[in-house]
Amino acid sequence: MPEKGYVDIHAHIIPGVDDGSKNMDESVKMLEMAYNQGIRTIYATPHYGSGKERYDSDYLTEQYELLKEKAAGVGDAGIELLLGNEIYYRHGTLEELKSGQALTMNNTKYVLVEFNVDIRYKELYSALQKLVLAGYRPILAHIERYFCLQKKFELLYAVKNLGVCMQINASSVIPKLNSEASFCRKAIREGYISFLGSDCHRTEWRPPCMEDAVKVLTKKTPEMIIDRILYKNTVKLYNNEFI
Ligand SMILES: [Fe+2]
Repeated sequence: MPEKGYVDIHAHIIPGVDDGSKNMDESVKMLEMAYNQGIRTIYATPHYGSGKERYDSDYLTEQYELLKEKAAGVGDAGIELLLGNEIYYRHGTLEELKSGQALTMNNTKYVLVEFNVDIRYKELYSALQKLVLAGYRPILAHIERYFCLQKKFELLYAVKNLGVCMQINASSVIPKLNSEASFCRKAIREGYISFLGSDCHRTEWRPPCMEDAVKVLTKKTPEMIIDRILYKNTVKLYNNEFI
């Protein structure tokens, strides 16, 4: 584990704002589960723009502040809770980012963004390019879900070259949890992936499994790549530096 613990950059842990945690009790249980998996920093990323969100920004800020306090008291070391959004890209996303309605990751230029799973590659590329040209640094959420990218390493290469970071769900590298686990591990091993995230929604819906994922990955992934994904890139994200 990195000295400061793992960083989870994708979590639906703020209560009552999307299809994630239902209430504060569940959120605290999720924090405890994350802590036990070695996670010490979490970016809370409630859905924005997908229709799964149910918050106004004042309510979101209030719930975030409440949970942030509770997170600091979890375990011996506490968890640092930061705020972002998982933004469903659509017409108007750039304006919503510029106005501050849609949130970047902890006020950096990094933006966690998702698309429909059956989006065509050209559309995906062009949307990501628009974000890059507007000065944002997209983090494409759970890349293993997009049919157009599955097993297409040349397309992963092109997306990465555009200046896009890619995230894979921690559970997706574990064979018993995902039939595409070997594709995910290969994409990580070959250096296409910048981050792991839990994408946790509930205590029983994709709970954090970072430690388990790392155990699976360490078997074949070069140490340098593991270090980059788990530590170096998360520090760069935090400091708003280029990855
Ligand atoms: Fe998500």
